Amino acid sequence: MKFIHLTDPHVISGGLPLYGRDPAASLAAAVADINENHSDAEMVVITGDLTNWAEPESYETVAGLIEPLSMPPVLLLGNHDDRPNFRGVFKDGMDDGSGFVQGSLKTTAGTFVFLDTHEPGSAAGTYCETRSAWLEKTLAETEGPLFLFMHHPPFAVGIAYMDAIALREPERFAEIIRPHAVRIRHLFFGHLHRAIAGSWLGIPLSNMRGTNHQVWLELTGRLDTIRTGPEQPAYGIVFVDDDRVLVHMHEYQNDGPDHAFAPPAGVSDRDYATKLKD
Ligand SMILES: [Fe+2]
Repeated sequence: MKFIHLTDPHVISGGLPLYGRDPAASLAAAVADINENHSDAEMVVITGDLTNWAEPESYETVAGLIEPLSMPPVLLLGNHDDRPNFRGVFKDGMDDGSGFVQGSLKTTAGTFVFLDTHEPGSAAGTYCETRSAWLEKTLAETEGPLFLFMHHPPFAVGIAYMDAIALREPERFAEIIRPHAVRIRHLFFGHLHRAIAGSWLGIPLSNMRGTNHQVWLELTGRLDTIRTGPEQPAYGIVFVDDDRVLVHMHEYQNDGPDHAFAPPAGVSDRDYATKLKD
């Protein structure tokens, strides 16, 4: 099966720029690119920070921007979101029965489990006892492969100012996950505005660049400044088979020209390659 992982669009209302980019235009371009090139994807999972300031108008803007998607979206919350304002616009959003934007979905690839790590007033994430109880029950009731989706990573990545706002009490969360780790095929997350891959508790993981601004790789430990990165916006195209999970990062706003694989007749490989222009 195939689905799309998109994250951190940080939409604002009024058509204003955010950190030098246009978040609404960038999300609109992603939606158009997904519809044009990946209409066979089963869903688009957006792992939080749907908006930047979480006003109702921002959620209305998000709703308008993703409405053209030709496949269903699954919306998670991040630290830049607001649960009541989200619900005011996305009335069919997930609800775990306690008001958190969580849920599980059976797919042909296994059970997708979507988590809510949002904590009002905090940039860091939280996974409280109520949510933990829901997750323990949900995991216990499922059989077969699992895929986890969340905004905040439950581990440090070495970028100090982002690690300071990762998931709080990650060990408690890890204790819930650990008994099921062997059947969790992948963990998808957002928050970091960078592409990172690796594993945690033996679980393969990846996140994705945001569709607006990116975070510079800063491994010096400084906490005073978050530098935005020069990387292009991207979303992920995910293929899941019995024997592989494959995540492509797609910089969908690249408008570079196509180059024919072979040079025209009578032109050497060297001349062709060195004289091409971007
Ligand atoms: Fe974000």
